[in-house]
This record gives sequence, C-alpha cells and structure tokens, in this order.
Amino acid sequence: MRWALPVSLLGALLFGACGDDDDGAAESGLQFADRGPISGDAGRGSFSFGVATAATQIEDENPDTDWYLWTAPQPEGLGNGVFVGDASRGYTMAIDDVQLISDLALDVYRFSVEWSRIEPRRDEVSEAGLAHYDALIDALLDADIAPMITVHHFSSPVWVDDPRVATCAAPSDENLCGWAHPQGADEIVDELAEHARLLAERYGDRVDDWATVNEPVNYLLAAYGVGFFPPGRTLLIPNFPAFIDTVRNYLRAHVAMYEAIMEADTIDADGDGVAAHVGFTLNTIAWRPSRDNALSDRPEDLAAVDRITYAYHHLFVDSLVHGGFDADLDGVREESHPDWQGKLDWLGVQYYSRNGVSSEPPLIPVLDLMVCFGDFDLGSCVAPDDPTHWVPAMRYEYWEPGIYEILLDFAQRWPDLPMTVTESGLATENGRRRAEHVVRSLEQIHRAAEAGVDVRGYYHWSLYDNFEWAEGYEPRFGLYHVDFETYERTATEGADVLAEIARERRISDEQLQTYGGLGPMSPEEE
Ligand code: FCB
Repeated sequence: MRWALPVSLLGALLFGACGDDDDGAAESGLQFADRGPISGDAGRGSFSFGVATAATQIEDENPDTDWYLWTAPQPEGLGNGVFVGDASRGYTMAIDDVQLISDLALDVYRFSVEWSRIEPRRDEVSEAGLAHYDALIDALLDADIAPMITVHHFSSPVWVDDPRVATCAAPSDENLCGWAHPQGADEIVDELAEHARLLAERYGDRVDDWATVNEPVNYLLAAYGVGFFPPGRTLLIPNFPAFIDTVRNYLRAHVAMYEAIMEADTIDADGDGVAAHVGFTLNTIAWRPSRDNALSDRPEDLAAVDRITYAYHHLFVDSLVHGGFDADLDGVREESHPDWQGKLDWLGVQYYSRNGVSSEPPLIPVLDLMVCFGDFDLGSCVAPDDPTHWVPAMRYEYWEPGIYEILLDFAQRWPDLPMTVTESGLATENGRRRAEHVVRSLEQIHRAAEAGVDVRGYYHWSLYDNFEWAEGYEPRFGLYHVDFETYERTATEGADVLAEIARERRISDEQLQTYGGLGPMSPEEE
C-alpha cells in the first residue's frame, strides 16, 4: 500500500520519512499526507498543497481601490511608487488561470476578493463583481481545487479611507476615515463585517475556508504606522497610542467578520461536517539579535528579540485565544474582551525571511528597539551567514530553519490551534533557486509535522509574478513567469518541481539531493 491512513491522535505519525509501495518495497524521500480540513479534529494529520494570490496584486485596471489611486500618476493619482495599472491581468484572465493551478496538481487556491469590486461606492453592490468570483469559484471546483477566500488583503475601496485626505475630520459615505479614526472605527468594523457576510451568503454554498485578514501587523504598520501603503498614515513614532488603536480596531473587525461568516455560511460545501473554517494569516520573521551590523549576544539585544517576537508574532493570536488585549505591550492583557475568545479556528503562518533586531537605537516606541528593514539600516541589519541566501529584490535573507522554529514555537504556545503555511515564497529570476526554496521549505515543514506540530498545508506565494505593493514589479515571486508585455505565463523550474511533489505527495530522494538541504543556493543574477 502506498499510503496507509491511520487516524492517529498525533498528526505527526502521518508524515513518514519513507513509506511502503504496493509491493511492500520501501519508498524513499519525504511523504506528505492526503488533503483534509484546515481545522477541526477530522483534519488532523492531513496535508494540503496550494498556491496563494491577492486581488490587487494580480487584477487588471481597478480605479476604485485605494492602491490604484495611491500609485496612479499625478494629477489623477498620488504617484506613490510604481503604478499598479493592469497588474498581471488576473481579472480578465482569471478563468484561464485556473488551468495553471490545475497543471500544478494543487489542492487549494487561496485568493482574495477585491472589496472595491463588490462595493465600489458605499452600500452600492456590484452584481458584476460578485458574478466574477462566482465564475472563478465554479471553475476551481470543476478542477477539484478547493477555494479559500481572504476577505481583506491589504486593499480597500477608496471610500474606506481616502488617501488624498490627510486628516479626516468626520466620517462620511465618501470617506469613513479608516482604522485610525476614534469615532469612525465602529462604522468600518461594521462595514467590513457586512462585506464578509455578503461574501459568505453568496459563496458559502461552495466555499468553506475563510481568512478574514492578511498579515495584520504588516498591513497596519505599512498603512497606518509608517505610511508606505495607502492611506499613508504615519502614527507609529509620533502617536503610538493611536497606532495601537488601529490594532485593536482591526482585531475587532476580525471578530466581527468571524461572527458574520459563521452566521451566513451554513452550508458544508466539502462534506467534512463543517460549514465554515475561519482563521487569519500572520506574518512571521526569524528574528536574530544584532548590534552595529553584526550578530550580537548581548542580553539587551536578546531581550529585544523577545519583545519584537511578542509584538509581531504573538499579540494578535494571544488576544483571540485568551479574549483580551495588551495595549501597552508589557505582557499583561489589561483589557478583557471575552467576546474575542476562541474566534479563531486555524492560523495561517507566512514566512519569508530572517531579519536583525537591536535594542540600539531604541527608535520604536514602547518596544524600545530597532528592526532591520530593507535599505533603512540603523545598525540592526546583519549580513546572511551564507551570501547565496540573500534575496536582493527584497533586501533580506532567506533562512530555511525559520519556518520550523516558528511552527514549533506556535505549537507550544497554542497547542490546540491548527496551522497551515498560507504563504511561502522567494523573489527570484532563477527558476532553479525557486525550486530549491520549495523543496527546502517543505523539508522544514515536514520536520515540524514529524515533531508533532499540527501543520496542515503549504501554499506557495505566488501563482505568477505580480505587483509587489510598495516594491512594484521588480520582485518576481511567481511559480509562473509573467511577460508584462504579452501577459504570457510560463512555468518556471519551481512550478515543475512543486507539481511533481504535489502529484506524488512526496519529495523524492533525487529532489532532496538536487534542491534540498541547507547548503548554498543557486545564484541570483544582480
Ligand atoms: C506577504 C504578503 C503578500 C506578498 C508577499 C510577498 O507579506 O501577504 O501579499 O506581498 O508578502
């Protein structure tokens, strides 16, 4: 038998370093389990392969998003960064693109619904927008690919928080003033929950897996902390309490969405006995202590690692697991929010890099530390141990064991929370390097599963090259290369290798030898 499926309490037992084939001969490589539910006991020990995208990053021409306005050339737009424009033409090509996922033999497609396609103006619902995602979901199901919807992935309709307005005095239908407005936040929380309810009512008969928000800490830092994303607010340093309010407001939105989806999606689409599995996806980084651009073992810097890990990795999930909020980040949840407790069926873990953190200079308020962030380097950036692991397009280091360590930490902290790696990927022009990233990441995730972590899947970021937010089009994260003149999609070596793995549900010994391990990676041309 190729793959025995004992229903074991320990999912880990389902991930063997080898198995038996039909003749009883030992098979080599790393074996992955069959697909299964993302949360609940029935899914323990299952493993799903998938791929992820986000609407703004792939969809063509949408003047109703804040990103379009933010990046469009002046005077019509604000001219920030590279114009999103037609992105990868993933709206008009959406149905054809399903074949690309099918060719990868994947179980799941995680995509986001663009809120402004559904509600371009407040309370004005677009049937055409709703019908578009209907057709996408149907095409996926026809190809036996389970759809997972992210409700809010870094973008909003302009009316949510108009980036042209620096100080929003009072919420109106044209501008609700966003997550930072002390009086406006109730309205936004309600609006986003209503939107989630509408999606659940419309698609719940075919969709069971829902992610409310994507990378809340990254999103809030970029959009409300340092102003790199629309609406471009810069609260982090001058007004930390106001920034923390945005975190609380976004948490409230998650809870309101969780409740709305649970109420509205009452149909079990895939027959696992559960109508809706609701979670969110969390950004993670393997932090390491640094000082004066070198690795540090000073206790102050080690303590800085603990503080950033708490704020970056733990705060959001702890709030939902325990039903409380630690607004001053001192490790004690002084606010009680019993209605938040348990509003999380599964957690999406997203890992890309290892970055330095230093207690000097203590620039980030309350946390008293400084992190390494791209070209912005005040001494906390450390060169990778191995230069071939540097990712030039994103200016950070890929470090294989990071995802293993993070999964283990999370499993210890939240033993009852099932996890799926909902994003993992590499910006590269070199297909072989991408294949190495796929194999090495899966090796580490397999290692975590064998250690007993309830990790139920791996979704690669991303299906094809797309608009990488503030970084524009230079970073190429696609399994498929996109020619931005013709929009032709071409499979990279990363796509071929992932497809083989997903088809066999196994990484072969040959793949491990060719692509795996921890050694030097194929070079990136700079
Ligand atoms: C993550 C985002 C995703 C994409 C990847 C590269 O932080 O969730 O949209 O930009 O990084």
